[in-house]
Amino acid sequence: MTDLELMQLARGMCQRAYVPYSKFPVGAALLCGDGTVFTGCNVENAAYGSTICAERTALCKAVSEGYTDFVAIAIAGQSEDFCWPCGACRQMLYEFSPTMRVTAGNGADAFASMTLGELLPCGFGPKHLG
Ligand code: THU
Repeated sequence: MTDLELMQLARGMCQRAYVPYSKFPVGAALLCGDGTVFTGCNVENAAYGSTICAERTALCKAVSEGYTDFVAIAIAGQSEDFCWPCGACRQMLYEFSPTMRVTAGNGADAFASMTLGELLPCGFGPKHLG
């Protein structure tokens, strides 16, 4: 699957976003090593801190279905800037696939990619626990 195809799935998920508070829809599509894709959107809550980002929605869907090997993720926002993952999402992704590819898109159909290692240098992962 190409970055563009993964991004198109992520963009489609913006429609499912539950964002009554921020009005900032985000969609994500997570590609597994075997080609399976899990999608997600951000789901907000009246207790704002309980909100979950689109990336972690997709990640939790995947892990709960037994998938932990990830090759790439696309994240689509609708603002002018690319929607790079927040710190918490970088950390959660790093747990499973520290070398994965991350593609971030904006509302103008543009996107860019880098590795998770570039987004989270010197990250803390399972191996550091010994
Ligand atoms: N959000 C995501 O879904 N992913 C990110 O990486 C950045 C932030 C969501 C959380 C919240 O619902 C809204 O965007 C504004 O922060």
